[in-house]
Amino acid sequence: MVHTTAPACSPNIAILGAGAIGQLMYHQLCHTSPNQPSHDVVLISRQSHTQLQPLRFTDIKGQIHNTDAVLLGTKDPRLNEVKLLLVCVKAYQVEEALIPLLSKLSPQCHIILLHNGLGPHIAVSTALRPYPEQGLTLGTTSLAALAINQWHIKHTGVGVTQLGHYCGHPLANHLHARIQAIASQEQPVEWHQPVLAVLWQKLAVNAVINPLTALHQCANGQLADDEYREQITLIINELVAVAQCDGIELDPTLLTERVYKVIALTSANFSSMYQDVTHHRTTEIDYINGYICQRAQHHKLNVPVNQCLATKVASLS
Ligand code: PAF
Repeated sequence: MVHTTAPACSPNIAILGAGAIGQLMYHQLCHTSPNQPSHDVVLISRQSHTQLQPLRFTDIKGQIHNTDAVLLGTKDPRLNEVKLLLVCVKAYQVEEALIPLLSKLSPQCHIILLHNGLGPHIAVSTALRPYPEQGLTLGTTSLAALAINQWHIKHTGVGVTQLGHYCGHPLANHLHARIQAIASQEQPVEWHQPVLAVLWQKLAVNAVINPLTALHQCANGQLADDEYREQITLIINELVAVAQCDGIELDPTLLTERVYKVIALTSANFSSMYQDVTHHRTTEIDYINGYICQRAQHHKLNVPVNQCLATKVASLS
């Protein structure tokens, strides 16, 4: 049941994007210490009015938690109190969802982008120029969650969350501590400077696993077969050359090891792009292999393997 009266709240941290990762971040940030939920975390709704939304969360141990989350409406003046906005929408939704909100947030609001792929940080950093006290952190997470239904998610995988400052004001210490508090031994939170190097490394993982599993309709583990080895090497070599022109030095051997490690660790999983293609949803291809092609074009480099994958996946939707 959805409560319709505007609930009281004092939103310090807001999450934009209430999909599986957005809700997972919500639950993690609310319950950083057991039996002591924080009441300053809200989700931002697509609707103009604010409402309470019952949420169900199955944690990694299988325990079920029920909470009422505040879904802050886009016309709610309390958007102006938000000091940290965690953007968990898909890469292709970032600009449309975030840019209209910038003027409504606290003038000191810090933004964290957490999505697969690269690209939206360029438009977002440009859009932040009129707000000199705001700041931008970029990140990636390998935490995994599955949507049981729209408002019930299950935490299905632990992993690392990697973050780093990109531009504008740095993240305030107390907000840094709030994010850090979601870390545990199995799910560390790492801070990297410069952050783009770790995002290119994660881009390599996605540039291999996502299009190949989507095109071959297979689980991640199948990519360990020898038949994919040459193509995987070519994808990585092209990416390393483009990253180098962007000022990012990557080691192709270490990158290949990392990609195969993720393939092994997630062998039974079906990648997000496999699932997007299967469910006829928009894919993030333009921000993964498409981003590599875009940067290659900028540097007048040829990346035929990534180009071919980008074109083939785009033609599926
Ligand atoms: O997009 C995904 O599915 C994931 O980022 C990854 C790491 C490729 C595992 O499936």
